[in-house]
Amino acid sequence: MSNSNLLVRIDSSARGTASNSRHLTDYLTQQLLAREEELQLVSHDVGENPFPQVTAEQLTAIHGSFDSEDPDILIQQALSDELVEEVLNTRYLVIGAPMYNFGIPANLKTWIDHICRARKTFRYTENGPEGLSGIEEAFVVVASGGAPVGSAVDFVSSYLRQVLGFIGVRKVHIVDAGGSGADADGVRAKAKAQIDELVGSLAEA
Ligand SMILES: Cc1cc2nc3c(=O)[nH]c(=O)nc-3n(C[C@H](O)[C@H](O)[C@H](O)COP(=O)(O)O)c2cc1C
Repeated sequence: MSNSNLLVRIDSSARGTASNSRHLTDYLTQQLLAREEELQLVSHDVGENPFPQVTAEQLTAIHGSFDSEDPDILIQQALSDELVEEVLNTRYLVIGAPMYNFGIPANLKTWIDHICRARKTFRYTENGPEGLSGIEEAFVVVASGGAPVGSAVDFVSSYLRQVLGFIGVRKVHIVDAGGSGADADGVRAKAKAQIDELVGSLAEA
């Protein structure tokens, strides 16, 4: 087990307390905290309080980790440094990811753009890309209205699996909270059963 002790929770739904994904990230977080007392919780609700959007110039500076004197770039890089530091000290990552137009919410993408940093959370080697985050497990709660989670039109799960693997997350677990358009209570109950099983299997590890 790593020495990192942060449990980082990212919510990104625009639906406030009606959100299935937020309800389930809350449940999941409580389960993990009950299991490991030394965990320290850090929460970012980017649905309620988004990080500032980055300009094209700021984005390339952050992504390439290159030095700049531009004050606006320095402000964005300082925020990125802070978020990267969190990621490097994270044991468990919990993400609430509603499906918006088949993909992830823009505010969640902004967080990802801040944490994907060359030579900090990933690097390129002779053998290809190498992730540097060292995060043990990520739990991604994918909520949708009608599109089935895991289907060919679910670009939320496939994208988050890819990008989290890229920064070196060892295991990515998808919690299926799809189909809320039909039966929100049923979706939550089924997803909670998945969470219980996932957290239970961690305890056996
Ligand atoms: C802007 C927007 C776009 C959406 N796009 C999709 C979509 O492409 N496919 C889908 O199945 N549901 C879509 N939905 C429905 C949400 O995924 C669904 O309400 C889900 O429960 C949202 O997560 P939440 O409950 O955590 O807020 C969309 C909802 C909104 C508000």
